[in-house]
Amino acid sequence: MAKKFQSIKGFYDVGPDRQRLWRFFEKEALKVLDQYSFEEIGLPIVEPTGLFIEGVGTHTDIVEKEMYSWQDKLNEDKLTLRPEGTAGCVRAVIENSLTYNGPIKLFYRGPMFRHENVQKGRQRQFHQLGVETFGIESSDADAEQIILLSRLFKNLGLSNIRLELNTIGDTEDRSLYRGSLINYFEGHKSELDEDSLRRLNENPLRILDSKNPSMQTLLNGAPRLVNFISDEVRTHFDLLCQTLKSNKIDYVINHRLVRGLDYYNRTVFEFVTNDLGSQGTIAGGGRYDYLVQNLGGSHTHACGFAIGIERIILLLELNASHQNKFNPEVYLVNLGSKARVLAFTIAEELRDLDVNTLLNIEGSSFKSQMKKADKSGAKIALIIGDNEVEMNEIQIKFLRKDSPQATISNNKVSLYIKENL
Ligand code: HAM
Repeated sequence: MAKKFQSIKGFYDVGPDRQRLWRFFEKEALKVLDQYSFEEIGLPIVEPTGLFIEGVGTHTDIVEKEMYSWQDKLNEDKLTLRPEGTAGCVRAVIENSLTYNGPIKLFYRGPMFRHENVQKGRQRQFHQLGVETFGIESSDADAEQIILLSRLFKNLGLSNIRLELNTIGDTEDRSLYRGSLINYFEGHKSELDEDSLRRLNENPLRILDSKNPSMQTLLNGAPRLVNFISDEVRTHFDLLCQTLKSNKIDYVINHRLVRGLDYYNRTVFEFVTNDLGSQGTIAGGGRYDYLVQNLGGSHTHACGFAIGIERIILLLELNASHQNKFNPEVYLVNLGSKARVLAFTIAEELRDLDVNTLLNIEGSSFKSQMKKADKSGAKIALIIGDNEVEMNEIQIKFLRKDSPQATISNNKVSLYIKENL
């Protein structure tokens, strides 16, 4: 027997039921993005490895251990499957001078790849919808994105989500804070776990992100970044909070929220749910005013976020009211060769009128076709046998309401259906 193959660990198929929810998410997301005038940009899945090393940061988990990178055998280029979308988007903005005429608001969607430990809500190939605003210094850009996201989650019917906010200051604030944090942790070295010891001198802020229960008291006692930030940063953050309040967006300040990518400054945020276990962050982002410059562009203010689409789909699945099965509106039962020819024509007429029509092409018995019609969820079954062909008439059976069976002539049937759906 021929060898059967299986998908790679952490890489999944998306079956038809999930695709329906996926489409529902995309439809609502695109609608909201249009409402706020964001434009879509298509970005490559493969980028130069250096883009992520420079962009995301050498000491991040992504760059240290999660990237799918290789060297092209033909030209020796060092390449990586994108682990996230911001670095590639910034590269595209610089390469195509997209901010030449002023600020620009972009979004992208597609697969991202991280070699992580697989668990519920955490995959190696996953999908993001990312949103980035370039060229706006004011916190109104951050506010607009957070308000957009809240609207989207509301439209998707998602509840039980909280917005966590923090400000991580500008570069100078953070280097002062970094020093004080290293001092604090040096004084408690014996309480640090292995991961944190490794991060102590490279990326001490990431220690704050640790979920290790035995370190929580230590972390709670750590110096707070908020006490190191400049007045300018504080004003920027306060204004964002005011704008959110006046738009009735609830949030909590999480002083320990630092995010896992190095490019952020000032405001960072996450939307978190408790309904998905430990992988509860469904969207995350923040400001990154230095990344464009660090990747070779001119100084450009920027902020953005990305939604983890699989996690949204998991949440939608928990909400039983979401229809993830497609129902045709009409099911066409047909028996005999002449009936099949007529059935094809009628089905096309119905589709011309935008009626979703499932034509039986499996050729089973009348009884079994009627069963399938019922199971399909269609509202109406059209019944065509050779007899009906001879009489130029079609039988109409309403499957979801108590109307009597009707008989309509061939040439009137499509309009009749359209009117009676
Ligand atoms: P991130 O927090 O790394 O940010 O990812 C954003 C979201 O993608 C997460 O909140 C989560 O929902 C989802 N996600 C991340 N990793 C996985 C995974 N292994 N499996 C399933 N879902 C996952 C970024 O990627 C930034 N580029 C966001 C951003 C845009 N910041 C500014 N602009």
